[in-house]
Amino acid sequence: MSSSAPTLPLLDVRPPADALRDEVLSGLRDTPKHLPAKLFYDARGSRLFDAICELDAYYLTRTEEAIMEAHAGEIVEVLGPHVLLVEYGSGSSRKTRILLERLEAPAGYVPVDISRDHLVRAAERIASAYPDLPVLPVCADYTASFRLPEPDGHVRRTVVYYPGSTIGNFTPEAARGFLARIARQVGPDGGLLVGVDLKKDAARLRAAYNDAEGVTAAFNKNVLRRINRELGADFDLDRFRHEAVYNAEEGRIEMYLVSETDQEVVVDGVRIAFAAGERICTEYSYKYTIEDFAALAAEAGWAVERVWTDDDRLFSVHYARPTREP
Ligand code: AVJ
Repeated sequence: MSSSAPTLPLLDVRPPADALRDEVLSGLRDTPKHLPAKLFYDARGSRLFDAICELDAYYLTRTEEAIMEAHAGEIVEVLGPHVLLVEYGSGSSRKTRILLERLEAPAGYVPVDISRDHLVRAAERIASAYPDLPVLPVCADYTASFRLPEPDGHVRRTVVYYPGSTIGNFTPEAARGFLARIARQVGPDGGLLVGVDLKKDAARLRAAYNDAEGVTAAFNKNVLRRINRELGADFDLDRFRHEAVYNAEEGRIEMYLVSETDQEVVVDGVRIAFAAGERICTEYSYKYTIEDFAALAAEAGWAVERVWTDDDRLFSVHYARPTREP
């Protein structure tokens, strides 16, 4: 065991556990039933997501990484020196290394994630790999407001890095509100570097969320396992199945857990009835065209200055600057 792993000043501003309970119960009492996508990312869910990223069918991560590698020089040039890089949903921080390796005198790296142990481990790995870089992890639900830690040195620009197309979890309306909040958080000199999955052939999209290995199914069902453990519920995982469909009209993948039978589940003392075939929506994953995303960003106070994509136009990375005083 290494004893040299640095201890980082973790800022833990996670919402209290009863907030999770209320969110879960209100979603399960609603018609149709739904659960928030952030529930996926407990320790096991974060590992399962990392496994999804390795799947052949899941082109997103691989393609985004290739775009970042191919254009890394240009990207760090537009970001400039003394950047405070804030990563939302940092997970394993893999793609971030592409930036951290090349940024000119970065002011700091702020990984923000809801999964605390995963966050701390990843932040410690980054701190060991870049000993001169101030690493200031924040354990938070970044869909709510939170304050950024301030590094000691000069910050020329605060840039939120939001890779992975996780912006696709929001409806366009919610995405506008979220992006507007980021504009306020980074201020007029700030920036936003965001990965956005592109609209494409429906079969390709469906395949990415219905892998033959069943990893996505396990990832999806993990939310029930988590609710069982954390809220004392009694979901029978064998009586729900994974479903992922592409809704072309809305431009989104929709993930569901489908009840295989009529059944009743007790969640923290509350009875929830399911009809056979009834679904819980666990995730939306919106897909955009480059133009649609730029238009959405503009409505939220951002001007997209640069867009990088791969030759097959599967995925895109946008750099935007605030257009107005928030
Ligand atoms: C992390 C939200 C971008 O929507 O593709 C992967 C999550 N869900 N497989 C996505 C996910 C099922 C992923 N995001």
